[in-house]
Amino acid sequence: MNDIEPIIRLEGVHKAFGNLVVLDGVDLAIRPGETTVVIGPSGCGKSVLLKHIIGLLHPDRGKVYFRDQVVSGMTDRQLVGVRRRMGFLFQGGALFDSMTVRENICFPLIEHGMRDQSELDERCREVLKLVGLDGDQDRMPEDLSGGQKKRVALARAVAMRPEVILYDEPTTGLDPIRSDLINELILKLQRALGTTAVVVTHDMASARKVGDRIVMLYEGHFVADSAPDKLLAEGSDIVTRFVHGRASKQELAEIEAAQLPNHDEPGSGVM
Ligand SMILES: Nc1ncnc2c1ncn2[C@@H]1O[C@H](COP(=O)(O)OP(=O)(O)O)[C@@H](O)[C@H]1O
Ligand SMILES: [Mg+2]
Repeated sequence: MNDIEPIIRLEGVHKAFGNLVVLDGVDLAIRPGETTVVIGPSGCGKSVLLKHIIGLLHPDRGKVYFRDQVVSGMTDRQLVGVRRRMGFLFQGGALFDSMTVRENICFPLIEHGMRDQSELDERCREVLKLVGLDGDQDRMPEDLSGGQKKRVALARAVAMRPEVILYDEPTTGLDPIRSDLINELILKLQRALGTTAVVVTHDMASARKVGDRIVMLYEGHFVADSAPDKLLAEGSDIVTRFVHGRASKQELAEIEAAQLPNHDEPGSGVM
């Protein structure tokens, strides 16, 4: 498996915002057809990482490749071709509120030059079918539930038939059942379209379910890279605590030391 040409490659990518070093020289090779899950604490740079892949952010040092093209340093104009081949499900799955479901889905298609109305309708129906929402073309985002909005955003992300789909926290804010539906959809899309996927999440159930491989980003570096069932066997304390959702002694001490406001009824003992 390892000798297969990666579809996306990061080489020594360094990114800082002012004094804050977010990516400290990271290397990552994404293999085609695989679903790579990126885990890591809030604010560790997962979204920043995805934005480098799609060229919304550029590294201070290092390079990002899509196949044999260097994405880092490309102008927006040069990036059009690359972005056509990648779908991006943004964190929050933002839909355009003033547009119908159909218009939301057709937007990127029209941007990329598809003009024929019957072709647009056909593609729209095809992707809505994939997410179980065919027939909802004329609804407005405000009339959809959170889970339905994510599904429309997903449909929009795959409408261009991209080679790669980048998912930024696709299940955040959804209850466990709806999260699982999204996980199933990610798997279904991967099987139906054979796409390569990068899924950013801090939902471990989701990571295990959809991932062929899990990498963990922490303090600017990848601290784990393994198959989902081998993640804990790697034995790193950071990874183990993250997977089990346990704070470190230092983090607990910080909470302990924090001042709580005085209560009128001390010692009521209710927790
Ligand atoms: N455009 C930006 N300008 C300044 N700081 C940013 C920018 N984008 C992200 N950051 C900072 O970089 C860090 C990583 O952000 P992000 O990748 O969004 O984290 P997460 O892992 O939660 O997705 C955060 O501290 C965030 O505030
Ligand atoms: Mg994020």
